[in-house]
Amino acid sequence: MKHFLKETDFGRSELEALFQQARELKATRGRHARPLEGQTWALLFSKSSTRTRVSFEVGIHELGGNPLFLNRNDIQLGRGESVADTARVLSRFIHGLVIRTHDHREVQELAARGSIPVVNALTDLLHPCQIFADAFTLAERWSNGGADLTGSLRGRKIAFVGDRGCNVANSWIMGANLFGMKISLAGPPGFDAAPEFNQLLKQEGFPNGYEFTTDPWAAVKDADVIYTDVWVSMGKEEETEERIRVMTPFRVTEELCAAAKPGALFMHCLPAHAGQEVTEQVLEGPRSIIFDQAENRLHMQKAILAALAASARR
Ligand code: CP
Ligand code: NVA
Repeated sequence: MKHFLKETDFGRSELEALFQQARELKATRGRHARPLEGQTWALLFSKSSTRTRVSFEVGIHELGGNPLFLNRNDIQLGRGESVADTARVLSRFIHGLVIRTHDHREVQELAARGSIPVVNALTDLLHPCQIFADAFTLAERWSNGGADLTGSLRGRKIAFVGDRGCNVANSWIMGANLFGMKISLAGPPGFDAAPEFNQLLKQEGFPNGYEFTTDPWAAVKDADVIYTDVWVSMGKEEETEERIRVMTPFRVTEELCAAAKPGALFMHCLPAHAGQEVTEQVLEGPRSIIFDQAENRLHMQKAILAALAASARR
């Protein structure tokens, strides 16, 4: 049974086929095969979402399946029913589960105790669907319609500026190592990745797979992409004041972007706070590809769902 809990759940040898499938599904939207025909896939969410929820609901529908949205607080899990029992009960009814929650271990336990494919739609630790869609967005541009999508990523540099310990930053460290890219992260000291993430990097064989600096200008040097995310992730609201105070020197501005490679692109997973982690000028400017990223969530996730459904049928 294949799950997608972290980037490395797809091996290097599977990536090109996955990216080609996303490209094909994008090109043939509305007339491609429907590999989830007759299936129901649930979305179990404990946090807010616009892009992830809508792209998965639409994607499951377009693949022929029936999406079932479950708010954690509306099911017995929210009243204390165990994750293990929830996994086993849901496995008797549905064909796959997409989950967004706080604790990454909950996603792991659902996968371990159930008997259906599980997709991580964001935890406090990782956001792998986002990074695969982002990497596809870059590969689409850099391959210029050529055959080798993932090959176009190799050797490129991404600079992540801001909350360098957040889920999207962690996932980009995993992604950069998987795709053969360089990654440099700039942020204030004291907001480092959780020990659990360093453990995961070690386990995956990427213990030194990134550069960290407190100097955003050093991070963006020679970068092909400048990436940022919100300074206050979901669940961190109590730290808002402190985070804004220490992260303000890490705001992505046009001047900072101009210190990267000529033609460097700007990316943000969204939602964005214009004027906080990034200026309105950069967000709305010509280097920004934020809405291509958002759109590609749909196409890449459909490719992921199709791959997991195929592995579950075997
Ligand atoms: N980028 C992203 O995951 O957005 P949502 O929180 O709206 O799903
Ligand atoms: N780091 C952000 C990403 C939102 C898509 C959060 O976890 O809130």
